[in-house]
Amino acid sequence: MQVPFIDLKAQLPEIRKNIESRFSEIITNTAFISGRNVAEFEKRFARMHNCRYTVALASGTAGNHLAAQCCGIGSGDEVIMPVNTFIATAEGISYTDAKPVFVDVDEKTCNIDAGLIEDAITPATRAINVVHLYGQPAAMQKIDEIASKHRLLVLEDAAQAHLASYRDTKVGNFSKAAAWSFYPGKNLGTWGEGGAITTNDEAIYNDAKKYRDHGSGQKYYHDMIGYNYRMSEFQAAVLNVKLDFIERWTEQRRNNARLYTELLKDVDEVITPYEADECYHVYHLYVVRAPERNRLQSYLKDKGIASGIHYPLPLHLTGAYKHLGYEKGSFPVAEKLAEEIVSLPMYPELTKEKIEMVCEAIRSFYR
Ligand SMILES: Cc1ncc(COP(=O)(O)O)c(C=O)c1O
Repeated sequence: MQVPFIDLKAQLPEIRKNIESRFSEIITNTAFISGRNVAEFEKRFARMHNCRYTVALASGTAGNHLAAQCCGIGSGDEVIMPVNTFIATAEGISYTDAKPVFVDVDEKTCNIDAGLIEDAITPATRAINVVHLYGQPAAMQKIDEIASKHRLLVLEDAAQAHLASYRDTKVGNFSKAAAWSFYPGKNLGTWGEGGAITTNDEAIYNDAKKYRDHGSGQKYYHDMIGYNYRMSEFQAAVLNVKLDFIERWTEQRRNNARLYTELLKDVDEVITPYEADECYHVYHLYVVRAPERNRLQSYLKDKGIASGIHYPLPLHLTGAYKHLGYEKGSFPVAEKLAEEIVSLPMYPELTKEKIEMVCEAIRSFYR
């Protein structure tokens, strides 16, 4: 038996017919851009997250960019963000000519360490861009208090956190604008590329709609220099079909996480994910900490079990952000985690047998 890291084929039987039928309608109508599917998706995605507005985009990275841009962040501004995240969080800030300022992460949650944020604030700080990494919301109460005290904006990167909530409030509602990704492997994924921002602010909504379409509200009338960040109808069609399943799939992810944690509890070497009481964690990734991580990964691979590392290099050690002048040792927690973390296979259809096989393999490795 092989255990893939993620198995998109396992979803096909439930969704394929409906997606094919929507695709067929798009082809018949030759309405490929900004049509019915995008409008339907925006409405339903916003409702599902109790947000007023969604603007569907070409990618999550476009979402990171427009969230910052529509909040007026730009040259001379600093934006505080966690050093352990996918690079797109930082890229979105860099595209506006603002400067990302990294902060170390909390050892238990792997999210930004709220206790370190104030040390990173300077007169140039405009915003804190939180990331709900792996599907677990960041410590929003503390972060909100800091933001209010220092009059900072909050932005969210919710790319890994569809339907996650903090104290019963869905993510996407803790900021001026939140960015989402619908990359195929995300909890809610397209069959290509896709992203969005959500917001409760009408001005940001209107700006984002213009920016995604060359700065225009009316075709060929351009109020500002924008981008081509539109989502295709085909991708919105996939998302509309998947929206019918996302709540159940999220519960399945949570059940899988529970089973992993139960089966690994007697493997002393392994630290299973910490789930904060106030969080509804949606387990985009199930990330454990394991000594001799690289050897463990090859051992699992030999047994047909795939795994991943999210992420092997904290952003300050990447070539892309070398110019910020951080060095090895600047963020000791993130650097330590990068050596120990391993993401185990996680997707809704993952079977009990496969989870048992993964846990048994881990147990036998340490034995
Ligand atoms: C935390 C985070 N932010 C942003 C992105 C960017 O999304 P996309 O790949 O859709 O551009 C991703 C996706 O990989 C992500 O995981």
